[in-house]
This record gives sequence, structure tokens and C-alpha cells, in this order.
Amino acid sequence: MHHDVDHVFRQDSDFYYLTGFDEPGAVLILAPHHEEHRVILFVRPKDKEKETWSGRRLGVDAAKARLGVDAVFPIQELDAKLDDYLKAADRLYYHFGPNQSLNATLLKHWQKLLATYAKRGTGPVAIEDAHLLLQPWRRVKQPEELTLIREAIAISVKAHNHAREIARPGRYEYEVQAEMEHLFRLAGGSPAYPSIVAAGDNACILHYVENQRQMQAGDLLLIDAGCCYQYYNADITRTFPVGGRFSAEQRILYELVLEAQLKAIAAVQPGNPFNTFHDAATRTITTGLVDLGLLVGDIDTLIEEKKHKAFFMHGTGHFLGLDVHDSGILRNPDKTWKPFQVGNVVTVEPGIYISPDYEPVEGQPQVPDRWKGIGIRIEDDVLITIAGPEVLTAGVPKALTDLED
Ligand code: GLY
Ligand code: MN
Ligand code: MN
Repeated sequence: MHHDVDHVFRQDSDFYYLTGFDEPGAVLILAPHHEEHRVILFVRPKDKEKETWSGRRLGVDAAKARLGVDAVFPIQELDAKLDDYLKAADRLYYHFGPNQSLNATLLKHWQKLLATYAKRGTGPVAIEDAHLLLQPWRRVKQPEELTLIREAIAISVKAHNHAREIARPGRYEYEVQAEMEHLFRLAGGSPAYPSIVAAGDNACILHYVENQRQMQAGDLLLIDAGCCYQYYNADITRTFPVGGRFSAEQRILYELVLEAQLKAIAAVQPGNPFNTFHDAATRTITTGLVDLGLLVGDIDTLIEEKKHKAFFMHGTGHFLGLDVHDSGILRNPDKTWKPFQVGNVVTVEPGIYISPDYEPVEGQPQVPDRWKGIGIRIEDDVLITIAGPEVLTAGVPKALTDLED
């Protein structure tokens, strides 16, 4: 993080998904073909001195008992043992991650085996990506995963509802951030991503994280903050008036974003292609902006030419789980979109952002000043069930009158 100080370790999501083990320096091998061991884990061995400095280690013996694997070895033995597990495999799945020395070890052994493939006639002749192999499983949440996502959401809902209680003119964005993150930590969680607490025109900066502004009467406050609980994440955005009342322009744009969000949620149905919810949000927002005179032209042409992106420049959502932007291949090789499935958890988060220094592209109108500096996003986390979308984050109000009340 800075001189002599490390970032806190965070386990690789795929590795955690398969093991529930959160120590660094570990390697998992799944070897279904191997005669003796099918699930093998390499871990850092116990080391009294190192543990005194940098924390407890489960160690080889306890890992075997605790994690239910067939064999556990010290990580230092990986190099010597890898060939044995690789040589009878007919396929090899590995994710080339940021650990270059591990990547090099794997390649070294694979190349060695290839060199003797002709003689043996067994061994993996290609390396396929282990992350892509796992993603069909990771995108469909198991009941145990949903329990943790629901917990992360419950903590986040409480924090958002508290934020609305304390935000008022004169207070600072970071005070709201601090109180929300305090609730995350008290519940055993942590921020799932840098909290965005953006008052006034700061809301037009999508990844605004400075959180330094003193809130003014008349500001909208956009809060995009979620809790990570036992590796599972929530991702919620609400936008409300700091002074308790929307201005006329804020009200109009808020109702438009909400309409787009509700239409997008309705499109999150099992079997619907992934793009349907973004198309629903884009069409609603573009139509609304044309009605307001902020965009001019034929709706289909505006969308085709991506003119709406001057005001709505991001996607409508992403899968959510171990990663905030969770694993999930969105398209087929022929470019068609993959369908939503029962068990997917997806965020739905359209927005409208009118920059204070908005300049129209050629052919589009100037925007009157009264619309400038307004940024609105509404983001819910939605579970896809057989019966349709279930909004998991419904505990934070989003109806305009509820926010004002
Ligand atoms: N907070 C990150 C996102 O909304 O995607
Ligand atoms: Mn978000
Ligand atoms: Mn999101």
C-alpha cells in the first residue's frame, strides 16, 4: 500500500468459491483422474516466527481436517509434486493470474510433460482457462451464497436508511460515508467497493470517491455504497434531496430514472437475453429526454447513434456475488446475448447525469442551466426466480414521496 505496509490480503474469488480458504500462498488441484488424491491443497506450513509477525496459519495438519480435502502439502512441495497430478490428466484448466512465479511453474511442468507426450500418450495437450470453466456455476447462486448476499444486503439497507436520517445541509459527504461504513464494520463487514457519497454536481462523476463536499440545501445526494459480508457483496444506489424536497427539475428526472429502473427490473426474467434490461432502460430514458427537449430526434435513431450516452453513459447492471462485478459471460460466440437464468443475481442501475459543463454534440440542443448539475442513479440488487425478479434491496425506499417523507 505504501512503504513497508501491505494492502490487506483478499483471496482470489474463484479460489475462495472452491475452498472457503482465505489464506495467501495456497494452491488447489482438482485431479478427478488421480488414483490416490482427487482434491489436493498446498498451503503455507505452520511457522512460529512468521506467524508472530503476520498472523496465524491453518497449517498442513489442521487444513486437512478442516477443509475436507484428500491431501494437504506445504506450498514449498508444489514444484516437486505437480507432475504427478498433471501427467495422467487429459485436460488442464488453469487461470493465469497475477502471480507470475506460479504461472511460470505451471508452464514449466506442462512443457516438460508435452516433451514426453509422444512416448506416454497421456497428459494435457492444451491449457484452458479455469475461470471460464467456473463461471457457469458462479453465475447461478447456491442457497448458501444467497444467504450471505442477503446478509450483505440487510447490512447495506440499514446503512442507507441511516444515511437518509443523518444527511442534511451543512454536513459533509464523508460524515455520511463514515456512519455507513461504521455500520458495515459493526456487522462484521466492510465496504464492498469505495463508497460514493456525491452531493450536488459531484453526482455527475460516476466514480466520485473524494466525498469531501459540504452538502447544501437544494443538493441531491447520490449514495452508491454496499457492504461485503464474508466475501459476498451488496451494491445499492439511492439518490435523495438533502433538504427533504426535490426541485421541479430534480423531480422530473428522478421520476424518469425510476420509471426506467422499474421497466428494466421487469425485463430481468429467466430466459430473457441479457441485453433486454439495458434496452428497456435506454428506451425509457431516451424517450423521456426527448419529451423534455433535452435530446432531439427520432428515438430509434438516437439510440442507434448512442446519443443517449451524453446523459446515460454506463450499462444498466452486472452480476453480483463474490465479485461486485461478478463473473458471467454475457454473449455467445455469434454475438447473441446469453439469457438470464434462475439463480442469477443482477444489479439494475440506470441513471441520468447532466454535467454542469454539458456541451451538446452537433445537432443536439443546448441544455438550459436549470437542468445542469443533476445526477441521479437508482440501483437495486435483483434475484431471478422462477416467478420473475425478486428485488432483494427493497428495504431502502425509492418512491419519490417516501424519500421526501
Ligand atoms: N458500485 C459499483 C457499481 O455500481 O457497479
Ligand atoms: Mn453501485
Ligand atoms: Mn453496480
